[in-house]
Order: sequence, then C-alpha cells, then structure tokens
Amino acid sequence: MIRAAITGVAGYVPEYILNNAELEKMVDTTDEWIITRTGVRERRIMKNPEKATSDMAVEAVKDLCAKKGISPEEIDLLICGTVTPDMLFPSTANLICAKVGAKNAWSFDLSAACSGFIYALSTGSQFIATGKYKKVVVVGADMMSRIIDYTDRTTCVIFGDGCGAVLLEPTTEEVGIMDFVLKSDGNGAVYLHMKAGGSLKPASLETVDKKMHYVFQDGQPVFKHAVYAMAEVTVAVMEKNGLKSEDVAWLVPHQANKRIVDATASRMGIGDDKVMMNIERYGNTTAGTIPLLLWDYEKRLKKGDNLILSAFGGGFTWGSVWVKWAY
Ligand SMILES: CC(C)(COP(=O)(O)OP(=O)(O)OC[C@H]1O[C@@H](n2cnc3c(N)ncnc32)[C@H](O)[C@@H]1OP(=O)(O)O)[C@@H](O)C(=O)NCCC(=O)NCCS
Repeated sequence: MIRAAITGVAGYVPEYILNNAELEKMVDTTDEWIITRTGVRERRIMKNPEKATSDMAVEAVKDLCAKKGISPEEIDLLICGTVTPDMLFPSTANLICAKVGAKNAWSFDLSAACSGFIYALSTGSQFIATGKYKKVVVVGADMMSRIIDYTDRTTCVIFGDGCGAVLLEPTTEEVGIMDFVLKSDGNGAVYLHMKAGGSLKPASLETVDKKMHYVFQDGQPVFKHAVYAMAEVTVAVMEKNGLKSEDVAWLVPHQANKRIVDATASRMGIGDDKVMMNIERYGNTTAGTIPLLLWDYEKRLKKGDNLILSAFGGGFTWGSVWVKWAY
C-alpha cells in the first residue's frame, strides 16, 4: 500500500513584530486582555507593500527544496491553502510555481480559511496514495494583515502573517498521512466572512467606505462552535483508528485561541506537554498555522510519532488528520 509521507517541512514569517504594547496604542485594549482571552503576545506583519502571500510562500518552498536537495522542477503538483491570495486570479499557487521555477507542476489554491492546510494536505495525499505523483508540495499561507481592520479591536489582536510548506512523497512503510475526518458547514458563514470583494458585492466606493473588505467575525458564536467541533472531530479520528490518548505523541492544533486548544487537549485526555503551541509568537496565521507548528517542532519529532492535526475556521470548516511522522 502506498501512503503519502511528509518528508520535509519549511516555514517563513515576516520580520516585523507587532506586539501587544504597540496594539495598546492603536486600539482600546490591554496586553493583559489579549493574553488571557487569546494567548497571543506578538504577531508578524509584512510591512513591505510590494510583497504578497505568494512571496512569503516562495521563501518557504525554496527553503523546502534546498533542505531536501531537490529542484523545483521535480514538483508534480503544488496546492496552496489561503484566503489571502495575491489576487482573485490567477491562483497564488500558480504564482508560487512561476516564481520558484516549478515549471513541471500544475497547481491550484484551496479556500478553507483556518482549515486550509489540513484540507490541502488531505487532498495532496490522495495524488500520492493513488500512485499518480511522486512529489506534491502543500503550502498553507496567509497574509492576514492585508484583510484586517486595525481599528477593530475584536479582530486585530488575533491575526498575523506567516506560512509553511511540506513535501509529500510516496512510502510503503507504516508512516505518513494515515487517515482524516474533514467537515464543512456553510451555515457558519454568517459569523465569519469578508462582506465584499466577491461576486455578491464587488468592490465599489461604498464597500471600501463601509470597510467591507476586512474580516468580519462575531467572536462568541465562532468560539462556541470551535470549542465543540474541534474537540469532536479530533476524538472522531482517534476513535475511528483505535488511537488512545497515550498513543498520541503530539496534538498539532490550529492556533485561533489558546482556550479552544485547551478544550481539545482536555477532551483527548492529553497534557500540555503533548500540545504544539506558537500562538504567543505568531497569533492566528490562518492556513499558515499548522505547517508553521510542524516547522517549529520538527527537531523534536521522531519517526513513528502519532500526530493529530486539527483545525477549525471560517466556512465553517473543520477537521482532523492523523499523521505518522516519517523521519
Ligand atoms: C474573539 C475572541 C477572542 C473574543 O473573546 P471573548 O471572550 O469571546 O470576548 P467577547 O467577544 O465576549 O467580548 C468580551 C468583552 O471584551 C471586549 N473586547 C473585545 N475585544 C477586545 C480587546 N481586543 N481588548 C479589550 N476588550 C475587548 C468586548 O467588547 C466585550 O466587552 P463588553 O463586555 O463590554 O461588551 C473569542 O470570541 C474567540 O477566540 N473567538 C473564536 C475565534 C476563532 O476561533 N476563529 C476561528 C478561526 S479564525
């Protein structure tokens, strides 16, 4: 049986650090409120107006290829999970391929907000498991600072910019993407969306004036759904595969809010020592978060470790992927 194994990981975050002290000067908030309610201390922001999501991803993909000693021309397929594409079309994945010289790859974007990376990982794994391709690159990348209203204290404290990328290759060993449970429910759109810029409300003077091109979030209902759904889907993938809490080496949870992560870990029956966290340093980087966690923790992972990657985000979209680490 062929499985898709993650054989390499790379990440990129912009240099500029926006900390809570600076946000205190921008909106009516406090460091204490942000830390206790969300867990975020600082986030990275792309200050260069000439750079977009694809430019962050290019750094990660180049680094990934260098680490693995492969040429971008060897990539068969590149999928980019993002809700902050450089432009509506062409896809950011197309632009990444052009910029890194992945001229033999085809590529597409996948829009699933904070679940973008796990959706893309699950999708990419199928092209390997069927024997169709040998090298698939899965990117999660978001430049949230470009769609955040920095006068809205309910959203600007949470989000940041960043991205990560993994290489998927075939293996016949008992490692790789073992299983996934993915969900979506468009009824959640009302709580978390961008009001304008699509075919429903194309950009106009009015939409700009009314700040409709920024993230709208009704935080409390999103929080309630996230706490319930992320824990439920995590337990679902474990039960489906007979995994007990002691079998899990790491929970790799989307970093929207530390309280949501704590609730998931407690439902799984695992301690903090098994939970990857980087929300303090990066905030919520949407599709970038989970590959950034893998990048941060790569040196602590061992071959055969059971990882549970779980996310919840706009859509609503949510899901959980069981990965057996391959190196
Ligand atoms: C956004 C979120 C952090 C807000 O936390 P919360 O505990 O729900 O806070 P509430 O929205 O109930 O607001 C509580 C109070 O804090 C205030 N508040 C909101 N943001 C604030 C800030 N940055 N600083 C200070 N006060 C703030 C509110 O105005 C409210 O004041 P009031 O009681 O006088 O009306 C939380 O709802 C959340 O994490 N939601 C889910 C996010 C998520 O998972 N998104 C999906 C993936 S992107």
